[in-house]
Amino acid sequence: MEEIEVIIVGAGPAGLATSACLNVQSIPNIVLEREDSYASLWKKRAYDCLKLHLAKQYCQLPHMPFPSNTPTFVPKAGWLSYLDNYVSRFEINPRYHRLVESASYDEKDGKWCVKVKNTNLDECEVYVANFLVVATGENSEGFIPHIEGIQSFEGEILHSSKFRNGSKFSGKDVLVVGSGNSGMEIAYELSKSGANTSIVCRSPVHILKREIVYLGMSLLNFFPCKFVDSIVVFLAKIVYGDLSNYGLQTPSKGPFYLKRITGQSPIIDVGTLDKIIKKEIQVLPSLKCVRRNKLEFVDGKSNKFDAIIFATGYRSTVSEWLKNGNDLFDGVSGLPKQLYPNHWKGSNGIYCAGFGRKGLYGISMDAQNIARDIISNLRSCKSD
Ligand SMILES: Cc1cc2nc3c(=O)[nH]c(=O)nc-3n(C[C@H](O)[C@H](O)[C@H](O)COP(=O)(O)OP(=O)(O)OC[C@H]3O[C@@H](n4cnc5c(N)ncnc54)[C@H](O)[C@@H]3O)c2cc1C
Ligand SMILES: *[C@@H]1O[C@H](CO)[C@@H](O)[C@H](O)[C@H]1NC(C)=O
Ligand SMILES: *[C@@H]1O[C@H](CO)[C@@H](O)[C@H](O)[C@H]1NC(C)=O
Repeated sequence: MEEIEVIIVGAGPAGLATSACLNVQSIPNIVLEREDSYASLWKKRAYDCLKLHLAKQYCQLPHMPFPSNTPTFVPKAGWLSYLDNYVSRFEINPRYHRLVESASYDEKDGKWCVKVKNTNLDECEVYVANFLVVATGENSEGFIPHIEGIQSFEGEILHSSKFRNGSKFSGKDVLVVGSGNSGMEIAYELSKSGANTSIVCRSPVHILKREIVYLGMSLLNFFPCKFVDSIVVFLAKIVYGDLSNYGLQTPSKGPFYLKRITGQSPIIDVGTLDKIIKKEIQVLPSLKCVRRNKLEFVDGKSNKFDAIIFATGYRSTVSEWLKNGNDLFDGVSGLPKQLYPNHWKGSNGIYCAGFGRKGLYGISMDAQNIARDIISNLRSCKSD
């Protein structure tokens, strides 16, 4: 058993940022990570062509801005090397192969007890701490919805987190389910690699060029959301025309309003839309059921496919291991009960970083808030 001031679960950007903020103030902390490296989402579960969707000033972690020669939209390799520098600069040493299996608060001694499986040695370890920071991510595990007959499918089924590039799908008929950023980008890659690509777009989406999003985010510093939304939607109409001609619906509410209220991000177009307009990518309605290699859609049509890629999002796994964290987390979704900006702090010294549905920008805020709160707690204890 090991005792420490703070335990951080997860060595993604949120865990790293929190550890850095604590290290700067010399608060002892341990980062526990189930994989064999930090930022495993970015190293192992992100496709090759991925770039950060937001401009660099919204993606940097606390205490270390990007160098001025970094491009505005940082590619995956640049982001990973930034994280390498971050980890060595703030001397963060996550403990790897540590799968947290349970964490519970002991009322009697007022401490968190964290049970961990060391998957390298196949042994159990126990850690005890005054503070617990949950940083396991909103995207802990790929989510695939249930579809009737899916087990009879004769082709390949893949979650977007396992997709790297389109080379092996060349010449194949591939269906991408889900029209979020991952789905749109993967459809583009597939089509470029010579796959006959279709995409299921079920719900209305805003599709914008990243330069327009960047402009919008800059305008938000000076103008109300409603006004910025109307400019952004107007510009998108000029660039793309009426998208309903291609089977794509646009929400009635504006993109920044939706981001604020629902956390749903607009789609940043990487070239998919152009391919949809040129009919190089087909847009299809919801998938109804699967019969061996035939997929049936809700409009009654059916087609043969060789592979289905589910870009249907992720889910949090917090509720599987966190006991009595109920005032902070919803037991079913594994997401915070309170919305941003009140989502990050519970009682008894529990916090969460990276659950504000605000991407890397939100992570930076969470890490700094948490470190500040822990430090002020420790100070007030000392003066008692
Ligand atoms: C394809 C993709 C593209 C994205 N692009 C952007 C973008 O451009 N801009 C942006 O701001 N955001 C983007 N995001 C959102 C992105 O997830 C976050 O910005 C960021 O990676 C979240 O960091 P995190 O530390 O909260 O979670 P993660 O990066 O998911 O890290 C959580 C860590 O916790 C570990 N873990 C989980 N459960 C346990 C356990 N029980 N025990 C021990 N360790 C555990 C995981 O292995 C993981 O390493 C993207 C997400 C995806 C999936
Ligand atoms: C595509 O990914 C495979 C691994 O899945 C890799 O071997 C190959 O080099 C990649 N191709 C390209 C063009 O990057
Ligand atoms: C491509 O896929 C669509 C949708 O399944 C299908 O209608 C079309 O015939 C396919 N095109 C070719 C060239 O196979």
